[in-house]
Amino acid sequence: MDFDNVVNKRRSFRSLEQVQISDNDILQLAKTSSLAPSCYNNQPWRYIFVRERNKLNEMFDALSEGNAWAKSSSMIIVVYSKKELDCAMKDGRDYYKFDTGISCGFLMLKAAELGFVAHPIAGYDPEKVKRILDIESGFEVLTLIIVGKHSEVINPVLKDYQIEFEKKRPERKKIEDFIKII
Ligand SMILES: Cc1cc2nc3c(=O)[nH]c(=O)nc-3n(C[C@H](O)[C@H](O)[C@H](O)COP(=O)(O)O)c2cc1C
Repeated sequence: MDFDNVVNKRRSFRSLEQVQISDNDILQLAKTSSLAPSCYNNQPWRYIFVRERNKLNEMFDALSEGNAWAKSSSMIIVVYSKKELDCAMKDGRDYYKFDTGISCGFLMLKAAELGFVAHPIAGYDPEKVKRILDIESGFEVLTLIIVGKHSEVINPVLKDYQIEFEKKRPERKKIEDFIKII
């Protein structure tokens, strides 16, 4: 698929239906995520692909109320990292979140190309997630990526503003509001 088509196809939909996700799908997502640039090629990102039904149900308990829509997902990708895995500059700049974010961007675009919704969220209890998955202390759970198939049937748990976003991508700033060309 043409790059711009993939970028346009990627949307954070909240109306999801169940979909089969194969090991090969997961490997393709992982491979694409690994091609992201990172400081000194440190590759600080860590992912857990939670697809098994019982574990997925446990993960649903960690979601915030506003993210109840994510209970229709077929997989949750837990994204975690820690400062020590990447460049930490003397002047205070730490790059682990930046680099992990780039890797997630690659992964989400690949998911869009494969026909999945891959919706990142911040609304969850990170300590609960760490307990459920036995993630070592010292790591931060940076995001959960909710994966499913887009459903044309609006999820009944959605609020009015979320329903609007199902129909139309949230507005972006005007280009001149976030760039300067000198
Ligand atoms: C770091 C991050 C946290 C987000 N947290 C949530 C969330 O908790 N719940 C939710 O429904 N969407 C969440 N989103 C999705 C954004 O609302 C969405 O990306 C934005 O509105 C733009 O829409 P689009 O991705 O469809 O273009 C989050 C996105 C990012 C990148």
